[in-house]
Amino acid sequence: MTLRGHGPRRGKALSNLGIIKDGALLIEDGRITAMGTRHKLETLPEARAAKTVEVGGRVLLPGFVDSHTHLVHAASRADEYGLRIAGARYEEIARKGGGILNSVKKLHSASSEALKRRARAALREFASHGTTTIEAKSGYGLDLPNELRILALHRELGEVQAVDIVSTLLGAHVVPAEYRGKADGAQRYINLLIHKLIPEVASQKLAEFCDVFCDRGAFSCEQSRQVLEAGKDHGLTPRLHAEQLTRTGATQLGVKLGAASCDHLEQVNRTDIRMLAESDTVATLLPGCDFHLGLKQYAPARALIEAGAIVALATDYNPGTSPTMSMPMILSLACSQLQMTPAEAVAAATINGAYALRREKQIGSLEVGKLADIAVFDVEDYREIPYYFGVNTCWMTIKRGVPIYARNVES
Ligand code: NIG
Ligand code: FE
Repeated sequence: MTLRGHGPRRGKALSNLGIIKDGALLIEDGRITAMGTRHKLETLPEARAAKTVEVGGRVLLPGFVDSHTHLVHAASRADEYGLRIAGARYEEIARKGGGILNSVKKLHSASSEALKRRARAALREFASHGTTTIEAKSGYGLDLPNELRILALHRELGEVQAVDIVSTLLGAHVVPAEYRGKADGAQRYINLLIHKLIPEVASQKLAEFCDVFCDRGAFSCEQSRQVLEAGKDHGLTPRLHAEQLTRTGATQLGVKLGAASCDHLEQVNRTDIRMLAESDTVATLLPGCDFHLGLKQYAPARALIEAGAIVALATDYNPGTSPTMSMPMILSLACSQLQMTPAEAVAAATINGAYALRREKQIGSLEVGKLADIAVFDVEDYREIPYYFGVNTCWMTIKRGVPIYARNVES
């Protein structure tokens, strides 16, 4: 599945996979230099001297682009998982100092070595499920040194690890504990973001995007606007956590600010859908959250696709709402819970994910000139990728032409 052609994909175009039967690729210096049927490729003189990787009979597609993750955190929140199963709601746990603040406390006391070890293990999981690029947000530091520490870790991990990391500042995840319960606490924290953190992140080039969790219990639209505009002034492209738990108007704010994406969108209304459809802001759906939290209301994927919005899918890998690194599992949820077709889900997880990171010219499809970022699945039909759920059918993952994951030889 090449996904070739113009990105991003809207409406019916979301289903165009550009399938080549019995296809082959020629790779040089990490990029695709020729592509077509095996027969055609084998006649090329450059191909004769090439080393071959035989993936016979399997399904090959662009590596997944997971455009929303909270990669760096210190530990799971399995304790809260137990509480939630026993009936406590996500927002209730957060109000009592659990939730994001729980992860912030854990991160503050974790060594950078420990954070790195955990993130590296997660990156290996991403790769083993066919993902070759992830976006990663800060947001469990919530003070100057720790937010910078997380972003510096993204950079360091990106240099030593095979999966590419696109960095996002999420200083406005929630108001930190020490600013709470004071008259102007939230505003004082926002001022810190605007006057100190954002300029510092921009000057050290530690992030490309600036995100805000705009929701009840987090930041209002007006507060989000302040942060995102300050980010923009410093060259950070906005993106938002929008309309996840409650409808706040974050989507319309995002579209007006030219955000790269609005993510979650469970609570969007018809005007929000229309505004997304008329914009270049990607509607990124994260069904792993609803699944993990046991929420019954998934985002209206069909209405978004039919209206013409650019729909992407991502894991939202994080310890509170979506502890998974598996894009194939997200595809399964997209099909069974969002009524997306397997073809739409594949495009949403590749070329549209790449567009959400504004990297559609380099990744997200298999085309001459693009990076040789490839996932190979051990299935006979691409629809089997979402069809088999909770099992990993990824057989090999290739980043810039180099295998970074290969399933063990079968016994
Ligand atoms: O994308 N919604 C805000 N942020 C995360 C949850 C983070 C957490 O609970 O730790 C999300 O769902
Ligand atoms: Fe998130």
